[in-house]
Amino acid sequence: MEMYSVKNQTTQPISEFPIFNNWGEVALGWYYAFPSQELKSGSVKSLQLCGQELVIFRTTQGKLAALDAYCPHMGTHLGRGAVVGENVRCFFHHWEFGVDGACAKVPCAPDIPERAKVRSYTVCEKYNAIWVYPASGQIPELASFPDFSESQGLKVEFGKSYERSCHHHVTMINGLDPQHLKTVHNLDIEMEVDISEETRGGLIDITLTGKIGTGNLRESLARFLLGNTYSYSMRYDHGNNGLLTLMRNAVFRGHQWPSLHMIFAYRPIEKGRTLVQPIYLTPHRRGITGRLISHFLLWLTKRAFFALQGEDGAVYENMRFFPANLLPIDRPVAQYIQYVNKLAPSPWKLL
Ligand code: FES
Ligand SMILES: [Fe+2]
Repeated sequence: MEMYSVKNQTTQPISEFPIFNNWGEVALGWYYAFPSQELKSGSVKSLQLCGQELVIFRTTQGKLAALDAYCPHMGTHLGRGAVVGENVRCFFHHWEFGVDGACAKVPCAPDIPERAKVRSYTVCEKYNAIWVYPASGQIPELASFPDFSESQGLKVEFGKSYERSCHHHVTMINGLDPQHLKTVHNLDIEMEVDISEETRGGLIDITLTGKIGTGNLRESLARFLLGNTYSYSMRYDHGNNGLLTLMRNAVFRGHQWPSLHMIFAYRPIEKGRTLVQPIYLTPHRRGITGRLISHFLLWLTKRAFFALQGEDGAVYENMRFFPANLLPIDRPVAQYIQYVNKLAPSPWKLL
């Protein structure tokens, strides 16, 4: 993959931001690991997450844990080990570690050495997936959607993950750049942008609303199906997860459509490589009709995403981002960059 960040540095130099678009830092945030169903009780799984080698395990009682992967005895990868009760056991000499990373057992010695511990990270389970936050202690919760609660149950589908050569902070600009709806997606919608930021929880909400044009077939179809106005919102969580709500307040023949929801879960793989995991979801609905509606809405969410994904890819696959000449219309981009730069760095590093 091309490392665009080092191209043209002598003729078009760019200076680094503290966090935004900076491959040298992995910001604190909830990073998508894998679907929950891939980790049964009593099992352990290895995972490379944002350049860090980890193990994630589920104890026999169902507790989840994420630890640095290398055993503090001689460095064996704990992913080669097994879960024994509430601990993960190293394959080599059977030292055992609890969910907090502290050593719980050294079979061949009466005492546990003081330094026999591995760093543990906060883990959560939400949207049928496992997420890791590269810190422990008081952590803000992984964001929820503004218009429904996951306590009512969700139907979730994981899309095919894909890679981008841009940093995820740059790729995420896509959701808040009103100009490109016309220039890239051929949708003539004058968008008004509303931004609200909640810095403590690492959230920024951006809502875009506008009148749909009448100039081409795509717009006429959109008008017929959705009404005259189009609105979507993006909730960014720690600059690495984007919770997208499409078709807000869309009306078809007097009936309001349910909104569509999806998550873009981003994580850097190494410098110059970002993984994008699309997650489609909709609230659970009862009965056969309810299930059919949920099924249809997920299908529609995927169609909307596929329709735009390729067009956006043409931008983000060959871009070397620098915000040298932002205009007043780019205000959401400028505000988003400021928001990302307020995020704290984590101890993880990319190669
Ligand atoms: S290397 Fe893990 S117990 Fe010895
Ligand atoms: Fe786009």
